[in-house]
Amino acid sequence: MPPANDCKPAASAPALTDTGFRLIQAKAYEWFGLHITASKHALILSRLTKLADRLGLSGVPALIELYRHTPSDEAKQELFNSLSTNWTGFFRESVHFDLLRTRLLNPLTEQPAVSRPSLRFWSAGCSMGCEPYGLAMVLHEALDGLAGWDAKILATDLAVDELDKATRAEYPAEAAQNIPAAIQKRHIESLPAGGEATFRPRDHVRKVVSFAKLNLLHPWKMTGPFDAIFCRNVLIYFDDKTRRSVVERFVRLVRPGGYLFLGTSELAPTGMKGIQLIGPSAYEVRGQR
Ligand SMILES: C[S@@+](CC[C@H](N)C(=O)[O-])C[C@H]1O[C@@H](n2cnc3c(N)ncnc32)[C@H](O)[C@@H]1O
Repeated sequence: MPPANDCKPAASAPALTDTGFRLIQAKAYEWFGLHITASKHALILSRLTKLADRLGLSGVPALIELYRHTPSDEAKQELFNSLSTNWTGFFRESVHFDLLRTRLLNPLTEQPAVSRPSLRFWSAGCSMGCEPYGLAMVLHEALDGLAGWDAKILATDLAVDELDKATRAEYPAEAAQNIPAAIQKRHIESLPAGGEATFRPRDHVRKVVSFAKLNLLHPWKMTGPFDAIFCRNVLIYFDDKTRRSVVERFVRLVRPGGYLFLGTSELAPTGMKGIQLIGPSAYEVRGQR
């Protein structure tokens, strides 16, 4: 007689085994710095299922096999696109724009035109561009339409599909909700009716921003110095070690007296030298580093 439980239907193998999950965890950390905790198993399964579909694979086990061996750069990029969280919005955590205005931009307007410095900003982890375009609007507002100013914003991300959206710069109506009405009036324009997107930042805003693909884990070509770096709601996906190394590199690229803005739920690693907290997750970079 077989034991009673042999009569039960055989349980089907889970689509994402613990071994498969650990492999994705390890690769996401090694390639992109993403720190995925065990509690994300169901979320990762759902994202990998969609990715397997998109790549025309038979399922998640085939996807795991792809990443177990030596995947192409394109396959790695697909994995990043599917694992990364890109939520963003115009004037998100606008306290940072207020701080920039009061501490950096307003005092600049009191200087004579001949001593105007060039202004350089970096939006690191810019997603679909709301953060750098919002910053460009703030610069236009504070600095007299940027007439006579040399101001540039570099905006980078590793998610190429988000960078495509950022370059297209067409957004649905709800994305305008947090843009103050007066700023909307001056800096965004309506798109022809009928499409999903209803507005875009005006030309004078778009031309201040340039986009580039960049993995924050890799070496950076930029030498700075930047007047301010915005890296908001990105470090939250990294572990302490990666966070510390990225923030140390940011600090080296900000000019003394410049600023580093992190997401308001993020903090610079403890004991970091050369920065002083001046507001919610906002830091002034000091001269002595
Ligand atoms: C939640 S969004 C934040 C967007 C914007 N900074 C904001 O606060 O609204 C996080 C962004 O970080 C990017 N990111 C995550 N890991 C990255 C890495 N290793 N290199 C570059 N960008 C990365 C993601 O692609 C995503 O667009």
